[in-house]
Formats: sequence, structure tokens, C-alpha cells
Amino acid sequence: MSALPPTVDDSAIWDIWLSQFRLPIINVNCEVGTFAALSEKSLTTDELAAKLSIDARALAMHLSALFAMGLVEKRLGKWQATHLARTWLHPDGEGYWGNFCKQIDFNEVLRGRLLESLRTGRRPGDSGEESGDITARPAEWERGTMSQEAAEGIANFMHAHSQAPALGAAVQPVFGTLKSLMDVGCGSGVYGIEIARANPGLKVVLMDLKEMAIEAGKFVERAGMGAQVSTAGVNMFTEEWPRGHDGHFFSNVFHDWSDETCRLLAQRSFEALPSGGRIFLNEILMNDEGTGPFHAAAFSLLMLVGTLGKQYSLEEFRDILESAGFTDVQAQRTGGGYYSLVSAVKP
Ligand SMILES: C[S@@+](CC[C@H](N)C(=O)[O-])C[C@H]1O[C@@H](n2cnc3c(N)ncnc32)[C@H](O)[C@@H]1O
Repeated sequence: MSALPPTVDDSAIWDIWLSQFRLPIINVNCEVGTFAALSEKSLTTDELAAKLSIDARALAMHLSALFAMGLVEKRLGKWQATHLARTWLHPDGEGYWGNFCKQIDFNEVLRGRLLESLRTGRRPGDSGEESGDITARPAEWERGTMSQEAAEGIANFMHAHSQAPALGAAVQPVFGTLKSLMDVGCGSGVYGIEIARANPGLKVVLMDLKEMAIEAGKFVERAGMGAQVSTAGVNMFTEEWPRGHDGHFFSNVFHDWSDETCRLLAQRSFEALPSGGRIFLNEILMNDEGTGPFHAAAFSLLMLVGTLGKQYSLEEFRDILESAGFTDVQAQRTGGGYYSLVSAVKP
């Protein structure tokens, strides 16, 4: 297989797979009454959730996506339907598109998951249902252990999804200033491997649950990076973190967890880093206003139905990181698709 160039923007592929969310988002919001309510009156997220008897946290994620699709506006903290939505998505309107959109939406599974989580605030899988659909069950890793086959499946799934942003992250100059980096919740290890490859003086430890660390080890071997990259099977919630690293890197880890759990992770990282050490969060960021962009809002809805988390904004990460004691919180797009690298320093 040919080598990849240093950075590859794969955002067009992200746009393709995230496009499957568009119609189900519209249909679910027609069904709960979002467009009708916001055509009549401007409302805050909480007011709208109360009026429709739906979950405010889930609704906030839907409103971000609807804003990004041009169907709602936000003024002085209140949402209202745009002229487009008032004209074509109001159920009493002459040209109501809802009846058509519902029939033409063949993505019943996703529509069902989105509707259930919007109505109840719970993930569909949390009601005990078993299914092979990844949007319908809690992530395997939430139990703190998984079968080797599950680990292999997740590693391959995550590797495909993370290759381009890993190349983008790897060329960030800040990694050249570190001696040793721990990639926490490494999955296949693609980030740690690419960062090590781009920084030959850097040692990298790939840390994940032990089954996943075994899978990451296979990727290290395949990449021929064994001299620079090692693995550690550690439960980041229940076990001591390895010390001696001046950088902790988390990619797509904070987005799996609630605000409260993110604060705990930030705190555990802070405790394990030396003074001057850095924490890195590689994530697709929501904007600070909670109004998009669409790729972040749709990805956040995937987190809503499949994990305990969501896509956070830089402002939310700043608050989480500063509450643990970190300073100098900043972020920049890495050039690897839609990802940004958030960083902060332990004083
Ligand atoms: C969404 S994946 C991200 C993988 C990789 N960082 C990437 O971006 O491709 C989340 C990772 O967190 C790991 N994880 C979840 N709970 C964990 C725990 N308690 N301790 C260590 N790792 C954990 C999972 O096994 C999984 O590999």
C-alpha cells in the first residue's frame, strides 16, 4: 500500500457519512413539534424542552444541528424557526414537507434512536435492548473490560476514522518540545504512532484498557515503531497512571463522557503530570455559541445515542481544564480534517 502524505484532509468523507443524520434530525423534530413551537414564539432551550416535554440536553444538540441546516435562528439566547422552516416545516402550513420527509427517510434505526433519546434523555441501549447496531448500545469500554474480539473490532473501526486527523496532529510543532507522551485511551494507537513517527526523539506510551493495549501493540508492530512506542494496559478510572510523561494526549476520549467524568479525567491527568507538563485534547469542537458547525453537531448526536458524552466547545473544555488547575488553554485546527488540538499546561 502506498504511504500517505503528511496530512490528508478527509473532511469530504466525514460529510458523506454524517449526511445520514440530516433527514432523521428533521423528522424527529417535526414529530416532537420543534418547528411549530418555534414558529409561534422565541424560546430558550429549557423553555422549549419544557413546552414539548423532551430532554433539554438532547434538545440543545438537535438545535445546534438545526441551526447549522438553516432551520432555526438564535437571537439573545432564544431560538426561533427561520422563514424556511416556518413556511415548509410547520405542520399547519400549506406546503408542509414533513409528510414527505418521513416517508422518504429509510434510516429508521437512526430516527428511532434520535427520537427516543430526545424524548427521554436516555441512550436507547440503556433500556437493556441488545442489538448489533453501534448506535443502539453503550460502548463496550464502559464496563472497563471487553472481549479481545470486541477490542479488535473497535481498534479497526477507530483506526479508519482516525488516520487522517492523526497525520494532522502529528505535525504540530508542540510535540517536538516533549520527551515522553502518553496517548490515553489510544484505541489502535494511530495517534501515538504517527506523532512518534513525526518526532523521532519522542518516546510514546499507548495507554488503554488491557485488551485494547494488546490490539494497539499489533499496530505498533505493523508500523515498525517498536523502538519508540510501547503500550500500557491501564484502566484510566480505577488504576494508577504511569508517571514520567511530560505530555498526556487524549483523542476522541473526552467526547465519550459526561462533563463530570471529563473533570475527573482532567484531574487525574493533572495529578500525574509534572509541573510544566501539557495535556492535549484532540477533538472536533462545537462553536462556543452551540450553533454548529453541522459536522460537529451531527457527530455530537452520534455521541448522544452511543456514548455518555457529546462534542464539546473550546469554552467548555477551558472550564473543565481550568477547574483541574491547568492554565494557558488554547486550540488550533490541525489540518487533519475537522479536528482541533486543544492544549493546556500544568503550572
Ligand atoms: C473513541 S475511542 C478513541 C480511540 C483513539 N484515541 C482515537 O481517537 O482513535 C475511546 C477509547 O477510550 C478507551 N477507554 C474507554 N474507557 C477506558 C478506561 N477506563 N481506561 C482506558 N481506556 C479507556 C477505549 O477502549 C477506546 O479505545
